[in-house]
Amino acid sequence: MQATVEPSRDCALCPRLHDFIASWRQREPQWFNAPVPTFLPPEGEDSVRLLIVGLAPGLRGANRTGRPFTGDYAGDLLYDTLIRFGLARGRFEARPDDSLELISTAITNAVKCVPPENKPIGSEINTCRTFLTANLARFRNLEAILTLGTIAHQSTVRALGGRVAAHPFSHGGHQKIGRLTVFSSYHCSRYNTNTGRLTEEMFVSVFREIAEFLNK
Ligand code: URA
Repeated sequence: MQATVEPSRDCALCPRLHDFIASWRQREPQWFNAPVPTFLPPEGEDSVRLLIVGLAPGLRGANRTGRPFTGDYAGDLLYDTLIRFGLARGRFEARPDDSLELISTAITNAVKCVPPENKPIGSEINTCRTFLTANLARFRNLEAILTLGTIAHQSTVRALGGRVAAHPFSHGGHQKIGRLTVFSSYHCSRYNTNTGRLTEEMFVSVFREIAEFLNK
């Protein structure tokens, strides 16, 4: 039997995140305010060759709109770059009903619920790994993973049964874990781009490598 790939809308496995979402349901009843599901291409999960793993929904981004990286700055850079490399088509307009469609790519988060101050704690990352692991297993034609930031990287390594010490995060690096190649990048957050930790060119060059790998 396939493990559950998405938490229920009212998932209470992480009490702090459940309570945080409950408070935002009161404040902003029109928002999505629930675990954000994996974004899939219209061709379905068997077409997925690349999985992108982010950290967690942004409060006014994915938590508001219900689609990963949609509605905050991180998505502007990510979706522009995906379109540039032929991994998405259409127009990204930061709304889940825009015409943006993924190609051979799916996008998920290491933690599916919005965390206070954008910072999930260790137990939440560990608990939500159940869903990350189930997501990794659902894509039978998966070849590559791109992890965005250290937390996503470490949780992905663990979900794949690897040891973090043996597979450390390094921006621009890639490593083989089992049959999959795991690429890593600094997270494309506004903070990282504002501070210069990640430039657009650095992000693009990670995607250049991924595109070369997928085109081989
Ligand atoms: N939005 C997401 O869905 N994930 C992130 O990691 C950041 C913004």
